[in-house]
Amino acid sequence: MERSGNDQDRTAVVVPSAQVRQSSRVKDYDALRREAERDPVKFWEDRAKELAWYAPWDKALDDSNPPFYKWFVGGKTNIILNALDRHQATATRNKLAFIWEGESGEIRTLSFFALNREVCQFANVLKSMGVHKGDRVTIYLPRILELPIAMLACAKIGAVHSVVYGGFSVEALGERIQDSESKVLITADGGFMRGKTVPLKSIADQALERAGTVEHVIVVRRTREPVSMEPGRDYFYDELMGLPIAKAVGATRCATEVMDAEDPLFLLYTSGTTGKPKAIVHTHGGYQVGIATTMNYAFDVRPEDRYWCAADPGWITGHSYIVYAPLILGMTSLIYEGAPTYPYPDRWWKIVEKQGISILYAAPTAIRGLMRFGEAWPNRHDLTSLRLLGTVGEPINPEAWRWYHRVIGGERCPIIDTWWQTETGSFMICPVPSFDLKPGSATKPFPGIGAQVLREDGTPAGPGEEGKLVITAPWPSMLRGIYKNPERYVEQYWSTFPGKYLTGDAARVDEDGYFWIIGRMDDVLKVSGYRLGTAEVESALVSHPAVSEAAVIGIPHEVKGNAIRAFVILRAGRAPSPELNEELIKHVATEMGPIARPEKIEFVTALPKTRSGKIMRRLLKARAMGLPEGDVSTLED
Ligand code: WT7
Repeated sequence: MERSGNDQDRTAVVVPSAQVRQSSRVKDYDALRREAERDPVKFWEDRAKELAWYAPWDKALDDSNPPFYKWFVGGKTNIILNALDRHQATATRNKLAFIWEGESGEIRTLSFFALNREVCQFANVLKSMGVHKGDRVTIYLPRILELPIAMLACAKIGAVHSVVYGGFSVEALGERIQDSESKVLITADGGFMRGKTVPLKSIADQALERAGTVEHVIVVRRTREPVSMEPGRDYFYDELMGLPIAKAVGATRCATEVMDAEDPLFLLYTSGTTGKPKAIVHTHGGYQVGIATTMNYAFDVRPEDRYWCAADPGWITGHSYIVYAPLILGMTSLIYEGAPTYPYPDRWWKIVEKQGISILYAAPTAIRGLMRFGEAWPNRHDLTSLRLLGTVGEPINPEAWRWYHRVIGGERCPIIDTWWQTETGSFMICPVPSFDLKPGSATKPFPGIGAQVLREDGTPAGPGEEGKLVITAPWPSMLRGIYKNPERYVEQYWSTFPGKYLTGDAARVDEDGYFWIIGRMDDVLKVSGYRLGTAEVESALVSHPAVSEAAVIGIPHEVKGNAIRAFVILRAGRAPSPELNEELIKHVATEMGPIARPEKIEFVTALPKTRSGKIMRRLLKARAMGLPEGDVSTLED
């Protein structure tokens, strides 16, 4: 199991300033939670009424066939109605939706009006290629504005987007295209990262050789490096957008498809305990209610904000809190293309100063990474525009919390630590600015969300006792299932404690009701905030001809949270060597992506297994860390 390294400071409370308390939208978080607890469905129904719908729902929650819950049944909507359409009739149309900064410093901005125009044009292009409601479209792009544009264009016409993170590679991309049976792939010639280019189109070409459903590939020009284009299949984005079909008078408009609340909006692949990633399904109706409400309350959104979520739009954080929720709330947000340390370790702080960012939402791993370079870098910049700081992705150790609070936030900004998952769609456990904080705790469940820590036997754990974190009742932005795999959905999330959603995290609740997330309890690793299945990395290793068996574990790492350590048994006739070691690391990077690269490979002749043949990763980890080995009674040998 993963552990957040630092257990000190468990009792320290950081209280908000009078100024923050006064200006906070939610004044009494505990009271709001108690009120919502009395009737959570009504709480969410009232929030849903704050959004636009084409037609109201008949029933807020249909729980007749658990765990296949449905929200706002019979309601007609499209997330685009709230994210773009309704702003076109208000002053928001003239406000900036996105400020984009490229790694080399160029700036591009889009108002809500201009964004809508681009989205409509591109939606018309997709339609002209035969993309219909319900069709899947894979998006594999670097951090450029065409990424949100492509997502929004899909949503507008009722197509289901499946964004694959630009840091993934051939096998990971191919598998996701194949499983989603995507008709169209949207990619780029390449992307910029740390001053270098990543050849996305050539990775995509290799992935397409393994996945056969794609009819058309749309290529955004970013690096302008030459790429191979297959006639009749591949088209350049800018050329399509210049065609009369996209440009003609009237073609800058496109009707938004009227969707059922429960119609799918997107698939997003995430790692589980098996070698195959699973596609989490989110919908148009409940999802928009969950993300807009949580963002508005937790970040206390104001019209004058300039918001920056430093995650990649390709992860759930980006889907919910870069693209959809900020647009629904009419916010101006920044997207930065590149690395936090490019060209110097003050790039982020420079952006905050230059753009007057008021809310910064970032991952603990990035904070720890920048903290390493010392205070002089942030201290060179005026960071007083910041009023709120958020974190997400893994437990934040109190040391990093305090640095973020003091050095970046000038002790003025509340730290909103948001616990949630790809599956939950929106924040589940987090404070609001007026709430008392404990560094390292995501505090308490959001109003309308029931969370509990349970013992193995399903009884609630006592104060301070470690157990399994569950969500006790359905919520609007919950996953609607795993694409094409209802059995796995039931098995994985709803069968350990019937009627309760199993998060996969270990946690404890202290005497004051504050939740402390300890880490994953399953074979899922968090490496630099990225979620990876040990089985996926193992299968990438085993796909190399020299490897017979492999086991992968996470070893605590100061910056990354966890680093990947692999144990490899070679095939007969292959001998360990530094060259083979290098080759295997490279192999994992080309199959899965650089994020899955093992930090260290150990060549071994046997792996500890249970009598039923399961690798005992727990034992490998204990040995690697020099810890007691615990119960080894199930060990085969
Ligand atoms: C896992 C979900 C949700 C957006 C990004 C991650 C860990 C997430 C926190 C937090 C402690 C956290 C959990 C969770 N996690 N946020 N604030 N404190 N742990 O989404 O890739 O689906 O990963 O990330 O272990 O289960 P994801």
